[in-house]
Amino acid sequence: MNILVSIFRLSAYLHSSFFYKRKVASILGHSLKEINLIYKEVSSSQWFKEIAQKKNIKQGLFDFSMLSPLRAQTLYVLCRIAKPEIVVETGVSEGFSSTFILQALEKNNKGHLYSIDLPNQPGQKLPENKTTGWLIPEDLKKRWMLILGSSREKLSALLNDLKNIDIFFHDSDHSYENMMFEFESAKSYLKSGGFLLSDDITDNNSFRDFCNFNKCNYVRLFKLGIIKKISIL
Ligand SMILES: C[S@@+](CC[C@H](N)C(=O)[O-])C[C@H]1O[C@@H](n2cnc3c(N)ncnc32)[C@H](O)[C@@H]1O
Repeated sequence: MNILVSIFRLSAYLHSSFFYKRKVASILGHSLKEINLIYKEVSSSQWFKEIAQKKNIKQGLFDFSMLSPLRAQTLYVLCRIAKPEIVVETGVSEGFSSTFILQALEKNNKGHLYSIDLPNQPGQKLPENKTTGWLIPEDLKKRWMLILGSSREKLSALLNDLKNIDIFFHDSDHSYENMMFEFESAKSYLKSGGFLLSDDITDNNSFRDFCNFNKCNYVRLFKLGIIKKISIL
């Protein structure tokens, strides 16, 4: 079993090295060289080392965290390039994705992140005495608003209040119905040129069906899907 997992991880890593960054460059309309520089901003930063240390992550074949392969890092790169004013995410847990998004907003000196998560879920695997988003550095929280509740209850009202959003990222309940509900809810609030992202698109067909129904192209980076909003979406 371990050998199979290793082969799978190795192929994902090789794939990420050769294709991930090229696909990110293509959907963002930037050169590979520019994209690489921003990925380096992450890997050379102190905060990146600190978050990996806090979680005791040793990057490599057996790393199943959001750092693998380049999922959280790609959220950072996307936010650095797109320079969003408003990002909405569902699914916070310990706060990996939130930290990477907030680090990019801080570097941009612009933008806010609104995150929805259920309170105290067993699946969050939070360490004792830690709360949702505990990995997020305190100084980044001025750009962050956490909304506690299910996305079914909270997302529509939040989007209504915000009116327009630049980036939507789904990483909450990965049931077909919930993913489709979130994608459909977010799409009309997304600005033209904005991005709709989803983690775990391989869990079911919702992301592919959404793209087919709305006739939009997407790039797939391992389990992460990215759509750039163009006029037809
Ligand atoms: C995979 S984790 C999120 C990981 C996070 N994005 C990160 O990078 O660390 C999934 C999270 O979704 C939350 N969740 C599950 N169902 C939800 C729902 N219906 N609405 C909002 N959040 C939900 C869980 O509480 C959990 O914290």
